Amino acid sequence: MADMDLIEKLWPQNIRRGSSCGILKIDGLRVTDIAREYGTPAYIIDEEDFRARARSFKTAFDQAFLSLCGGVDVYYASKAFLSLDIARWVTRDGLRLDVSTGGELAVALRGGVPGKNLGVHGNNKSVAEIERAVDAGAGRIVIDSLTEIDRVNDVAIDRGVTVPVMVRVTAGVSASTHDFIATAHEDQKFGLSIASGAALQAIEKIISLPGLRLLGLHSHIGSQIFDPSGFELAAQRVLGLHAAVAARWGVAMPEMDLGGGFGVAYTAEDDPMSPADLARKLAEVIDKECQELGVPVPRISIEPGRAIAGPSGFTIYEVGTVKPVQLDDGTTRNYVSVDGGMSDNIRPALYGANYSAVLASRRSHAASATTRVVGKHCETGDIVVHDVQLPDDIEPGDLIAVPVTGAYGRSMGSNYNYIPRPPVLAVKDGGVRVLIRRETEDDMLALDQG
Ligand code: LLP
Repeated sequence: MADMDLIEKLWPQNIRRGSSCGILKIDGLRVTDIAREYGTPAYIIDEEDFRARARSFKTAFDQAFLSLCGGVDVYYASKAFLSLDIARWVTRDGLRLDVSTGGELAVALRGGVPGKNLGVHGNNKSVAEIERAVDAGAGRIVIDSLTEIDRVNDVAIDRGVTVPVMVRVTAGVSASTHDFIATAHEDQKFGLSIASGAALQAIEKIISLPGLRLLGLHSHIGSQIFDPSGFELAAQRVLGLHAAVAARWGVAMPEMDLGGGFGVAYTAEDDPMSPADLARKLAEVIDKECQELGVPVPRISIEPGRAIAGPSGFTIYEVGTVKPVQLDDGTTRNYVSVDGGMSDNIRPALYGANYSAVLASRRSHAASATTRVVGKHCETGDIVVHDVQLPDDIEPGDLIAVPVTGAYGRSMGSNYNYIPRPPVLAVKDGGVRVLIRRETEDDMLALDQG
């Protein structure tokens, strides 16, 4: 990496800082040129980096599990970010796709993802969504409630097909992450509890129904998780249930899904595990547990979203105003306002998520200053980067780049304050491909019937 302020784990592989101009370059393209042509703010994705991350999950997990169950199916969690091209990339790179709504399903199908590659999630799938998934020949529908079992069975019977299903179970693991993105403790809306017996009840019912074929159990403990012990404990508990089902009903479920949630570094302090280390650890636990339980290792699948899309993307913003604010302790904080904010990245406001930022359009030799990067929304919580050291001479017209916005940025974007959503630009081989164009005022007004 050409510049000390670019912390390698936060940036896509093709980022550099121009040695003479100091301008950030992605795959040889200056971000200033991209900004001039496509405007700001803009999400930029390093295509090669995204696809390398996708393949690295597939390769690492295949390797670790090869001798145990012949390999692993990797479902890219499309909620992190999905467009037609993303659907094509992951399919070409040997991944499958996890969708959690009819909308994501529609994009996946339009992007040419084969039905059999689709894992369909959702804690409240409508009958129409279930019908669409079944008609597309979805490889698996993940059952999330007792109510849903009959719904899926009815659609299957109506269509004269057998639908492959998994049961999402909650393993009672408290994942150490923000409450809003933890999903395996008992008091939350997802899945069926192992401890309460609800999961077993669901399994018994599914086995009895002619329209359903039980593929296996599914567990997703939460998101942005660094400590592998949560995944390990969940895997042990789910395997315990898996073995209990085999013993009780003689049903050998062929598959098991461990979900996604693998953490990424948003700031220098975060230290995520590599896919290879994670895969080895999980393979070890699963192998040992299956041996102890006396059951064959089911075909394992995983669902990474953030760990593929997050670090391959960053956002460029233009600075509009700079305001030094005197703090109670006598120090000063520079408030740097940019031309986006909580409508293109809600994560700081919603989860208190931390990010970092760099000056992208030039090199500065000024001293660094305590800085808060804020957006242009009418809201105090409209913070882009809470606390970052940026040069003291930042001025209107400068470009700021915020790394690791490839996941849950555009996909959770909004039109709050009628701000059009930024484009998503993929860069590869020195060229730009617009995955999603910038929204216009006409786009926003197209729905207004007044
Ligand atoms: N599988 C299931 C069943 C999930 O519910 C999720 C995420 C994933 C996989 C992918 O998780 P990942 O690998 O991306 O962590 N908006 C939040 C994250 C919500 C995640 C919801 N489910 C955020 O911005 O942090």
